[in-house]
Amino acid sequence: MNKNTPINYEIVTEKRKASKLPSIGTASIRELVRLVNEIEQASGEKFIRMEMGVPGLLPPEVGTNAEIEALKKGVASKYPMIEGLAPLKTEISRFVKLFLDIEVDEKVCIPTVGSMQGCFAVFLVANRTDTKKKGTLFIDPGFPVQKQQCDVIGQKYKTFDVYNYRGNKLKDKLESYLKGGEISTILYSNPNNPSWICFTDKELKIIAELADKYGVIIVEDLAYFGMDFRKNYSEPGKAPFQPTVAKYTDNYILLISSSKSFSYAGQRIGMMVVSPTLFDKEYPDLQRYYKTPGFGYSMVYGALYSLSSGVSHSAQYALAAMLKATNDGTYNFINDVKIYGERAKTMKRLFIENGFKIVYDKDEDEDIADGFYFTFSYPKMESNELLEKLLYYGISAISLEITGSEKTEGVRACVSQTHENQFADLEKRLKQFNTDFPVA
Ligand SMILES: Cc1ncc(COP(=O)(O)O)c(C=O)c1O
Repeated sequence: MNKNTPINYEIVTEKRKASKLPSIGTASIRELVRLVNEIEQASGEKFIRMEMGVPGLLPPEVGTNAEIEALKKGVASKYPMIEGLAPLKTEISRFVKLFLDIEVDEKVCIPTVGSMQGCFAVFLVANRTDTKKKGTLFIDPGFPVQKQQCDVIGQKYKTFDVYNYRGNKLKDKLESYLKGGEISTILYSNPNNPSWICFTDKELKIIAELADKYGVIIVEDLAYFGMDFRKNYSEPGKAPFQPTVAKYTDNYILLISSSKSFSYAGQRIGMMVVSPTLFDKEYPDLQRYYKTPGFGYSMVYGALYSLSSGVSHSAQYALAAMLKATNDGTYNFINDVKIYGERAKTMKRLFIENGFKIVYDKDEDEDIADGFYFTFSYPKMESNELLEKLLYYGISAISLEITGSEKTEGVRACVSQTHENQFADLEKRLKQFNTDFPVA
């Protein structure tokens, strides 16, 4: 390998060795963050950091101000209600109506400590509704921590890479898992982390029909709500609406994060919306773990009570204020985060111009959207080798290997931390990479 690389060859080699990571491809995101921090510090060079999915924007003032005001009023000394603050529940229910076109009453709208906690609570309840069922089917690629959540509570799960099963092909593939009768929940994110694919309405209908046929609960993770920028989902109460499986089935739970859409990751607050039918449903098998067979009751007073006894009081005021402004049309959250799509467009172009390929590139026959993440590969390189080499060129990303993808050559890039003033550097580095590793 050419040793005249953008980042000092010896420093990268030495730090890489010292990290003792057996492979970059299987390293966790946080392990990579540490390694890149060390190389940056030792070399004095800034990386194009694409490994971690953190918001790169400031939180909306309306949220911060509401939180400060609530703290000044003294809410910190009081326990919040586990099911959530009344004004927040009202705004979540309005948000769901105005941006998903789904009617739900306030009772089923519950704040959680990030979507992460919402997801954990779902596993604790939804995967225990039936003694004959065993756990979750993940439509991958996906967010690795959700599988870790299943692991830590000893729940089994199945997964498959959806790449070859888009459109009508999804039906048979899903059914091959559901036929056995052991799947209690199906989980996917939409838009998808890591691939940024977005399910079409046809695919969501297929998922919904099978949920009803097999009595499976769909967990729709909307961590990137509204962020498919090909469509304008930003006008309250006006089509188009963020697509959702909730349009087609009553067997759903929605997890809506505030972390990316509202740049509020640090305060750890998200929303869980349980289908009203499911909320009131009784599952006698739940009584193995909870006092009552009621699904909603077990969720709130069983799982969420046990996990954290509610969500930080001040953060609930912040989210209520951000949602109210959004619902009233005085704050446009999508305008604030659209910048991610613009960055992705330029960054994808720079990669493609220099011999790289986009791995997950289509939603059925439509080109994939430009958004928070994209996936790429380089001819004749497996992801591990590619990531190792990119370190010398000051570019960091993660392998799709840890996401349940079968695309062993694929890498995930997150655009949030790359600012426009780094594009020239990115281009220069990619050009040199392409020169040093010519695509024959
Ligand atoms: C698909 C997906 N689900 C859930 C989360 C976690 O969201 P939160 O920060 O609300 O816990 C993330 C965060 O990166 C994500 O990508």
